[in-house]
Parts: sequence; structure tokens; C-alpha cells
Amino acid sequence: MLRTFKVEKFHASIIPESTLFKVLKYLDKEVIETPFLLIDSEMIKEKVSMIGRHIRNSKIFYAVKANPDIEILKFLNELNLGFEISSEGELEILSSLGVEPERIISSNPVKSLKFLKMAAKYGIHFFSYDSADEVDKLTKVVPHCNVYVRLSVPNEGSEWPLSKKFGVELDEAATLLTYAKDKGLNPVGITFHVGSQCTNVYNWNIALDKAKALWELAERNKIKLTLLNIGGGYPIKYTKNVVSIETIEKNVNNLIYDKFPKNIEIHIEPGRAVVGEAGIFVATVIGKAQRSDEEWLYIDIGVFNGLMESVGGIKYSYIVESYKHTKYKKRYTIAGPSCDSFDVIDKNVTLPEPDTGNLILILSSGAYTVSYASEFNGFSIPKTILIQRKGKR
Ligand SMILES: Cc1ncc(COP(=O)(O)O)c(C=O)c1O
Repeated sequence: MLRTFKVEKFHASIIPESTLFKVLKYLDKEVIETPFLLIDSEMIKEKVSMIGRHIRNSKIFYAVKANPDIEILKFLNELNLGFEISSEGELEILSSLGVEPERIISSNPVKSLKFLKMAAKYGIHFFSYDSADEVDKLTKVVPHCNVYVRLSVPNEGSEWPLSKKFGVELDEAATLLTYAKDKGLNPVGITFHVGSQCTNVYNWNIALDKAKALWELAERNKIKLTLLNIGGGYPIKYTKNVVSIETIEKNVNNLIYDKFPKNIEIHIEPGRAVVGEAGIFVATVIGKAQRSDEEWLYIDIGVFNGLMESVGGIKYSYIVESYKHTKYKKRYTIAGPSCDSFDVIDKNVTLPEPDTGNLILILSSGAYTVSYASEFNGFSIPKTILIQRKGKR
């Protein structure tokens, strides 16, 4: 069935034409019950090739939490990427794919004993921490492992801040490096996270200044560090352009070159930037209503089964299937399918009017969507479909 989607100019600035073309072609060929998430594998490959390109001596560890779909992980494994994990579940998937322990790190500063035991048995040897309690756990379960301390850094300008929950200030971080050494662990470095979807390049400047100060403090305490883990945070395009990976990395690379000893190892842990823009949710309009002067559009993906980040302020771009002219637009409040009044995804979204039963595409929805989803109220978690190059699948 040939479908009519209202693709507008600004959509082309959000996702590449090639990805959109693949998705529209897929929808013309396949009849699948919505909701589902289409992922363009070539877009993932392109993103992976951009990340780390401008940072000397860097290795990438994909943050599995962003999207742990097995086909995506298989694909990334074939690209020989490293992985950053936090839980037994994430490790189980990677072990089913035979990922070598040397390619896995864990940067969640507080890990359960159960996970640590499993990670130790698997041979994982790089862990972050930000408390003496974590050092005590690591000493018991993974003695002599490599550890890097999490520094607290400003998250202003990040749409998904992370720093209040984790990280310590300079003096405490220095004390913790010494404490880890005294306990027989191998303190190798420093990590920080500037906050997810970080659109403020200066966050990296401040973070690197702090990391340099800690590096020097450690040296004074006779601890020679070799690793700087710069976390994730690279932003993606949702409704507008953001600073490019190239700009961020060139800046970070220059700062590292100026401030730190040459030849230190850099770890990068991108999640959102690897899979976010490669994903497009395909949903169905399940109902419409006018409530006083507000037009409501109800769709079969909501806050609980995929669009949780909308609650934290992430705003998506939409393409609707509509047979009405783009001139006749309405301003919608878009809501999910559940009975909960919290299940509202967005307000004041101007769209050509779709009919109930028409499809609606939600752009840049590959990261932190399905991985957050629940079956609350009996609504299904969207399945993920990886579109591979011809011949692959
Ligand atoms: C420790 C750690 N590393 C990496 C990431 C990935 O961050 P992003 O998706 O912003 O690249 C996260 C996100 O929560 C994280 O907590």
C-alpha cells in the first residue's frame, strides 16, 4: 500500500534523506502491527565512524543502556566496538554474543555485589567508583582490578543531567584514589559525565580542568594515572541542530593535549549518539478529541512504553501520514495510549491533521526509548527492527 507522509523541509535537517527513504520504503512493503522501532544500521555505522575520530588514542565503549537490542549489539560487536555495562542482564546479552571481557567496562559507580561477582567471573577488569564502600566491595570481589574515580562536574546545558546522583569533588576523589591503592586495587584514571544530550561544549572544558587538577593531586600522592574516561553526552538532533561531534571532539582533543601527559588512554562511552538518530518509531493514531480549545491526538506509544524521556523535556519531531494538505495544520497535544494522565508526550505540536488509523513517525527515537519501556496498562513494548544492507538480511 502506498502511503502519503507529510515530509517537510525541516525534517531533512533532523534525519538524513537516506534513512527516511529506507523507512518509508519499509512501510510500503511491510504490514506490521504498530508500535515498532525501525533502526537504520548504516546510520549507526556512520555514527560509530564519526565518534573518536578526532580524539587521539581513544577507544569507544557503547553504553548498552541506550538500546540493548540484541540485533543492534550483534551489529556493534561486528564493528568491534567496546561496551559499557551496569547489570547482570546487560552482561548476559554480551556473553551470549561472545564479547571478550577486555572489550567490556563498567562505569556505574555503584554496582551490586551480584553483578560484580558475575563480572569478575567473566574477566572484566575496569570499574568506576566514587565511594569507599565501592572500593571495599571491589577489593573483596575483584581484587587488583583497575579502577577510575568519578568526578562530579557541571551538567548545566544538558537536557538529561546525571551529576547529582554520582561523582565526588576533587579532594574526596584524591582521597579515594589513595584509598583504592592502599586496598590493593589499581587506580588507573578519572571519569566524569557532562550529562546526557549535552549541548553546551563548555561543560567539557570545565570537566577537563577539574580532571587535570585531580590528575596533579594524584601525582603528588604518588599515584600515576594513565586513563581518562570522558563518559558520554554527545548530543543528537531531535527538533533542532546541535553542536557536531567533530566540534566537540576537536575541542576535547586540544584540551587533553594541552593539559595532560601525552599518550594517555582515552575512553569514550557514547550511548545516545550511537543509536538515537538511527531510530524511528512507527506508531498509529488511535484517537482524536477536542477538549475545550485543545486538540488532542492519541497514539499507541506513550510515556510508559517508549517515550519516557519526553517527561524530562526531550521534544521529538513527528511526520504524520495524512491526506490533507500541509497548509491545513493544527496544534496538537500528543498523548500515549494509557489511562494515566501523566501519559502526555508533547504539547503545541503543529502537524497536518491525520485520521485515526493513520501512522505517525517519531524521529530520533533510537536511544533511551525501548530500553525504558514497560507494559503498563497492557500496552506492548515496541519491537525493534534493524534494517540491514541488502544481502545482510
Ligand atoms: C556512566 C555512563 N556512561 C555513558 C552513558 C551514556 O551517555 P550518553 O547516552 O549521553 O552518551 C551514561 C548515560 O547515562 C552513563 O551513565
